[in-house]
Amino acid sequence: YPPERVRNFSIIAHVDHGKSTLADRLLELTGTIKKGHGQPQYLDKLQVERERGITVKAQTATMFYRHANNQLPASDQPDAPSYLLNLIDTPGHVDFSYEVSRSLAACQGALLVVDAAQGVQAQTIANFYLAFESNLSIIPVINKIDQPTADPDNVKAQLKRLFDIDPSEALLTSAKTGQGLSQVLPAVIERIPSPPGKCDSPVRMLLLDSYYDEYKGVICHVAVVDGALHKGDKIASAATGRTYEVLDVGIMHPELTPTGVLYTGQVGYVISGMRSTKEARIGDTLHQAKSIVEPLPGFKPARHMVFSGLYPADGSDFDALSHAIEKLTCNDASVSVTKETSTALGMGFSKVQVENPAALASNPGKRIAACWEPTVIATIIIPKRRGEQQEYTFIDAQRALLKYRLPLREIIVDFYNELKSITSGYATFDYEDSEYQQSDLVKMDILLNGQPVDAMATIVHNQKAQRVGRELVDKLKKFIERQMFEITIQAAVGSKVIARETLSAMRKNVLAKCYGGDITRKKKLLEKQKEGKKRMKRVGSVDIPQEAFHELLKVS
Ligand code: GTP
Repeated sequence: YPPERVRNFSIIAHVDHGKSTLADRLLELTGTIKKGHGQPQYLDKLQVERERGITVKAQTATMFYRHANNQLPASDQPDAPSYLLNLIDTPGHVDFSYEVSRSLAACQGALLVVDAAQGVQAQTIANFYLAFESNLSIIPVINKIDQPTADPDNVKAQLKRLFDIDPSEALLTSAKTGQGLSQVLPAVIERIPSPPGKCDSPVRMLLLDSYYDEYKGVICHVAVVDGALHKGDKIASAATGRTYEVLDVGIMHPELTPTGVLYTGQVGYVISGMRSTKEARIGDTLHQAKSIVEPLPGFKPARHMVFSGLYPADGSDFDALSHAIEKLTCNDASVSVTKETSTALGMGFSKVQVENPAALASNPGKRIAACWEPTVIATIIIPKRRGEQQEYTFIDAQRALLKYRLPLREIIVDFYNELKSITSGYATFDYEDSEYQQSDLVKMDILLNGQPVDAMATIVHNQKAQRVGRELVDKLKKFIERQMFEITIQAAVGSKVIARETLSAMRKNVLAKCYGGDITRKKKLLEKQKEGKKRMKRVGSVDIPQEAFHELLKVS
């Protein structure tokens, strides 16, 4: 297939607007997968994705489709030219915009799927701009037109108003009933340009994704930008400088299908003896070894999106935890780990870049001139209420779009849940990273019987310190069981205690109600109490239940 017969495209959508279902239908329509193959949503390959119903890692699939220019159904024209269509899936979650941008960099066009009833939502806007900035041809697809509340005309008006998309360009589909689906691939072929690229140049390709297979080793998904890649070629990574031999190369149709070669504009997989996915960085340029090529633009080292400190509840499980984490990092290049030790929790792991509050001096006034905190630009779409228009943008008669700059920490905990709850589930939300902004931040320590608990230290805005301190102390009082001695719980900024509670002493006798001499029942109760203790963390002499740590995170 020369580049003129290749089309590379993505499907982009707000969560749940039907991206994966549409992708499945296209794969069925081209015979790439069998109808009713028993695995809902082929492209959502990872188990975690199936469980959570969201796409996390991009998958790609190659389809073959016969298409003639005179608009007749392909089945009536057995001699119509065949096209090679690469559907490049993108993660649907707001946190993966870099991965989305790399997938889009391999495409020349995108299907912008919008739910016919829900209309444009926050991630529709974010995804549209990512595609627009990548200069992609955008084909609007108004999906779920079978729904009783579908209002395709309204969605067309929104697309016109927000993105200046001509209403006549929109395709109307139902990925559920199949209505309108036959127009989709002809539109892909007619409206999306074929991939550019120089067929005669040394090979240069974009690394889209990678994963670890127990038998085959690291498998990279690539888009060949220039030249051709053959089995046996020597290639190099622009990011690491390492060289490899191509052991296997082919297309995803939809499983790995060896072809021995990938030509300019094609998308497929490469196996080249990489030991770990850490060597295969998304956005990297792989190129012919020993040739000087310019790396493709846009590469960024993996950024961490989820941070977590992990400690075994029981210190003797440390080795098992360590082993499990090692396995995880082998399969997922975006996970990186450092060991850390907490005086309260013992040995553990943190995914790097955690700015541990314990590391911040307790009294910033003395040693730190200023603090900066990360901010985001948040886009929120909410149902419109009666009232006067101020700084909102109205998408249509029912919906308003709000834009705010917010400190990142304001949206980390519970923001999305709260937004959904106060708008009865109607609001949608998206955000992009923005700059750091100077902020009056202080470190707040939690002290139990005068001893600071490093794992509970937190960084708060000075103006909120009083309220947050009060809440933390109240919560802790609720969660810590009374013990045989009095416990003081304090929140302090520097040497200043801003909230304090006392938990009075009590002897908790689980046998108190156990009359008579039934020894087995007594034993059972004592066992139960022992179990309960295992789940506690002993800080100094105070046992803290695990829920307390979770609850503390919710206070901000
Ligand atoms: P993410 O993977 O989270 O980004 O979601 P998605 O956009 O891939 O949505 P998905 O394909 O998982 O569809 C969401 C829900 O909408 C599923 O329950 C689908 O069965 C349903 N759905 C998809 N297309 C249609 C349609 O045309 N009509 C109706 N009625 N339901 C649809």
